[in-house]
Amino acid sequence: MQIPDTLIERLRKAQRVAVLTGAGVSAESGVPTFRDAQTGLWARYDPAELASPDAFRANPTLVWQWYAYRRSLVEAAAPNPGHLALADLERRVADFTLITQNVDGLHRRAGSQNVVELHGNLFRYRCFSDDEPVELTTAPPDAPPRCPRCGGLVRPDVVWFGELLPPQAWRTAVAAAERCELFLCIGTSGVVRPAADLPLIARSAGAYTVEINIAPGALDGLLDLHLYAPSGRLLPALMTAAFGHTP
Ligand code: OAD
Repeated sequence: MQIPDTLIERLRKAQRVAVLTGAGVSAESGVPTFRDAQTGLWARYDPAELASPDAFRANPTLVWQWYAYRRSLVEAAAPNPGHLALADLERRVADFTLITQNVDGLHRRAGSQNVVELHGNLFRYRCFSDDEPVELTTAPPDAPPRCPRCGGLVRPDVVWFGELLPPQAWRTAVAAAERCELFLCIGTSGVVRPAADLPLIARSAGAYTVEINIAPGALDGLLDLHLYAPSGRLLPALMTAAFGHTP
């Protein structure tokens, strides 16, 4: 796989790097991407119709069970070489921010530390009524439990369609995009705003912006460099090209 020298040089020298990841980074771990066709029992549902406050209001049990299914997929999965390469990159860069739209927690499991979860996390919960966090040691698979404070229904702590991003996470992400020298946008379709604005914010603030995806999509032609290859192969190859043999 041909990696341009300019990217290798920039990666070697960069002091401030920001990365935005999407579902494509976890595809090689066997976690379906958000817009993949669902299989089995869930094949007839559109994910976009399950991931909303209206869907939860209308049928909390159905939505809860869908999230239990997604958690089971993630629990059976492991970080792939792309996740591991990003954790390795963080150890080599003074100011490194990993912004992710993924709710699977695989970046942290791979060893990444400074992770901004823009869309929340499947393994955290909050109350649908009072909106405060709820601790669950195990999540029941069949139906949402009740909030110990107010008796409201417990929901996953993820961002649904029609909801705002967590404000602090968004501010941190924008600040990282504005101050970085190099911005990598990996495995995201680039259609869901405002996350998709981050590479453009970085580019207008002067960063060198790179897309890594298996195929051209909404960001095609908008960034400085587009590399089309699976991230689980390209990221380790990039790390080896820039830093020699890596773990
Ligand atoms: P999508 O499912 O929209 O897009 C996945 C992207 O990954 C596509 O552009 C694929 O071409 C690419 N891809 C697939 N396999 C890849 C691989 N091995 N290496 C590199 N790229 C690969 O997922 P997201 O862009 O993450 O939000 O979706 C963004 C948000 O849309 C999600 O976080 C979710 C959804 O609305 C919420 O739930 C709020």
